[in-house]
Amino acid sequence: MSLYDEVGGAAAIDAAVDGFYGKVLADPLLSPLFASMDMTAMRRKQKMFFAAVFKGEANGADGYMRSAHKRLVDDGLIGDAHFDAVALHLQATLEDLSVPGHLVRQIMTAAAGLRNAVLNR
Ligand code: HEM
Repeated sequence: MSLYDEVGGAAAIDAAVDGFYGKVLADPLLSPLFASMDMTAMRRKQKMFFAAVFKGEANGADGYMRSAHKRLVDDGLIGDAHFDAVALHLQATLEDLSVPGHLVRQIMTAAAGLRNAVLNR
């Protein structure tokens, strides 16, 4: 069974997207970066984010993450502090949803593996 199925599949992803989106937009460090994005694109992005990490495919997504965030890095808009904040919100979201600890650790390890790709290093 994949991690995606273990955490509850599409229904769990929907709940996680709602929780994560709320936390990111309530964070003054992160919310300005999403101000110009439309809601539909934002939700699609978040669903892809969670599907990727829940399916444990995140480590294969380096090239995609690199290009998705290149503009933000080139413009000097994101760095380690932003990545740390996003990761904390992800972990808190999973804990809010009572995802078992061993799965939280597995998901956070997959997300951490994307740091250098997201930050284009
Ligand atoms: C593990 C970490 C991350 C993952 C898996 C991830 C995932 C994604 C995905 C899937 C997209 C959509 C790309 C597309 O349009 O096809 C995206 C775009 C975006 N991400 Fe991330 N992201 C991560 C970290 C971050 C961080 C730290 C920030 C900083 C606040 C951030 C801000 C954004 C923004 C603003 C966009 C939209 C970029 C644009 O359309 O110009 N992301 N991300």
